[in-house]
Amino acid sequence: MVSRKDEIKNAYRSLGKAHSFYDGMITGTTFAGRIVDRAVWHMDREEILEYQSGAFEPIPSGFTGKILEVPVGTGVLSVPVWKTLPDADITCLDYSEKMMESASSRAEVAGIGNITFMQGDVGSLPFEDGTFDAVVSLNGFHAFPDKEAAYRETFRVLKPGGIFTGCFYVEGSNIRTDRMIRTFYIRSGFFTPPFETEESLRERLSSSFSETNVYTVESIAVFNCRK
Ligand SMILES: C[S@@+](CC[C@H](N)C(=O)[O-])C[C@H]1O[C@@H](n2cnc3c(N)ncnc32)[C@H](O)[C@@H]1O
Repeated sequence: MVSRKDEIKNAYRSLGKAHSFYDGMITGTTFAGRIVDRAVWHMDREEILEYQSGAFEPIPSGFTGKILEVPVGTGVLSVPVWKTLPDADITCLDYSEKMMESASSRAEVAGIGNITFMQGDVGSLPFEDGTFDAVVSLNGFHAFPDKEAAYRETFRVLKPGGIFTGCFYVEGSNIRTDRMIRTFYIRSGFFTPPFETEESLRERLSSSFSETNVYTVESIAVFNCRK
């Protein structure tokens, strides 16, 4: 029997090959991508930029610390940001080698030399406790199969005072989006329940982090926390 982790890997392997469609959708910059963004997410480019810039907001310009990004996917959202942080020490990790191939060639084309790419599982991170000054996670927690392990591990590898920031889908904000997620995204392996609501995410994060800010843009929650 195929495990949920392998189903997810297979789903994202096919996306990794078709990364221009995925990238157009996640950035809202292609015709096909904009159709999906409106039909599923009820978002235009403005809302997309709002949640994506909110996810990077706590990382100041000139940041020089150690950053873990998980999952990096094709790097379409993060690699342009990482290019502006030449003195940071950045590790990008993803379960799918295929998605990450796109990210590492994107970084190479952009001439970025301070990123290490690693295949791995967010539920079992190969790092010591308190390794990172910041952990960034964009659109990952709705995909991870073992969310408890993912929360535990991302918290464990953060230094005290470190930043945990990112975004992902939460249910309960838009009935039509929730229906699309149930009908198409879970079945295809791109998303895995159970999902947070905005409120459950706020409660969860504020029970372990010293500072927590959670808000939604349509059905995407942005979180900015400090350990
Ligand atoms: C929706 S994509 C998000 C990628 C990127 N952060 C973005 O916003 O475009 C979800 C990613 O999660 C990765 N993923 C799923 N389960 C994972 C796991 N257990 N550990 C690490 N990455 C995982 C998938 O391979 C995929 O690249």
